[in-house]
Amino acid sequence: MGIIKDDVLNKYNNFISELKKEIEELEHKPNQELKEKINNVKKKVELIKSEFLKGIVSQLLRELSKTEPSNKKEFGQEINKFKEIIENDIRKITQKIEKKERELKYRFNFDLSIKFLPDTPGKLHILTIVQKNLMNVFAELGFEIIDGIEIEDEYHNFEALNIPADHPARDMWDTFYFSGGILRTHTSNMQIRILKTRKPPIKAISLGKCYRRDNMDATHSFQFHQLEGFSIDEKINFLDLVRTLYKFVHKYFGPNTKVNFVPSYFPFTEPSAEMSISCFYCSGQKNDCSVCKGSGWIEILGCGMINPIVLKNVDIDPEKFSGFAFGMGIERIAMLKYKIPDIRMFYQNYVEFNQLWR
Ligand code: DAH
Repeated sequence: MGIIKDDVLNKYNNFISELKKEIEELEHKPNQELKEKINNVKKKVELIKSEFLKGIVSQLLRELSKTEPSNKKEFGQEINKFKEIIENDIRKITQKIEKKERELKYRFNFDLSIKFLPDTPGKLHILTIVQKNLMNVFAELGFEIIDGIEIEDEYHNFEALNIPADHPARDMWDTFYFSGGILRTHTSNMQIRILKTRKPPIKAISLGKCYRRDNMDATHSFQFHQLEGFSIDEKINFLDLVRTLYKFVHKYFGPNTKVNFVPSYFPFTEPSAEMSISCFYCSGQKNDCSVCKGSGWIEILGCGMINPIVLKNVDIDPEKFSGFAFGMGIERIAMLKYKIPDIRMFYQNYVEFNQLWR
C-alpha cells in the first residue's frame, strides 16, 4: 500500500478522463458554443490546480512528514510522481485550449445556411431603368428607337458631323483609338449612320455607350451612356425642337418643370443651344440645393438645328429638308433624377446600391 489512497487516484483519473472527453468534443462546435465550452474546461483546469495540486498534494506532504522514516523515501517519490502527472495533464490541456482559442479567433464567421438568393431577387440596373423610361417617353412622342454601334471610324464620329481633324472640339471629344477604328465619343454618330440609309421624314432616337479619354471622378467616366434624338422633314424649325423637348421634360420630370434655352455651340448644329430645366427639388428656393447649386436651373442637354453641312454629308438637300437634334448624358439624367452624387456608383457592382432602385 502506498501513501496515495485508491479512491483519491480514481477520483483524479475519472475527473481527467471526463475532461479529455469534453476537450475532444470541442471539434466542430459552432463559434458561440465553442467559446462556452472552452471557458468550462478552463474552470476545470483551475479546479485541478486548487483541489488536486494544492489540496491533495499538500495534504499528502503533510501526511508524509508523519510517516515512518523508512517509508519516507518511497512515499515521497510516489507523491512527486503524482504531482508530475497532474502538472503534465494541466500543461497538455492548457496547450489544447490555447490552440482552440486561437482557432476561434481566426475562424470565419460565415453562416453557410443563409438563404441568400431567394430573399434578394435580381433588379434592373438603374441605368437600364432610366434608359427604358426615356425610350418610353420618346416613343410616346412619336420617335423610333434605333440601335447604335460603339466601334466607329473617325469619319462618322467626327468629320461627317462637321468636326474636321484640326477642329479644337476634338480635344473634348478625345477617345480611344485602335487599329480597327475608334470608340465613339457620342451617340451623334447615329445621325450619320441612320441618315445614310434612311431618307426623311424621320424622327428617331438612339442610345447606348460612349467613350472618352477622361479620368474617373465624381462626374466623369471613360465609359458612359448617351441618348441622341433627331427629327428631319420639310419645314422643321426651332419651335418644333422646343415643343418636343418641352413635352419630353413634362413627361419625364413632371408637368410643372420649366425649360430654358441658352445659345451654345456644337459643330453639327446651327444654331445650337443648351437646355436647362427648373430645379425639380427646390424650384430655386434653396441657396444650398445640392442639385441646382442654388441657381434654380439644371443643364440637361445640348441641341440645335442640324447643320446644313451635316445634311449635305448624308446627301440630304438642305434647301428642301431641315431638322433638329439633341443629345443628353444618361448618367447625368439619372444622377439628377435620383440624386446620385457620384457617377462611379453606377459601375461598382455594389449590390446594396443596385437594390435601391425599382
Ligand atoms: N454630341 C454632343 C456631346 O456629346 C451632345 C449633343 C449636343 C448632341 C447637341 C446633339 C446636339 O445632337 O444637337 O456632347
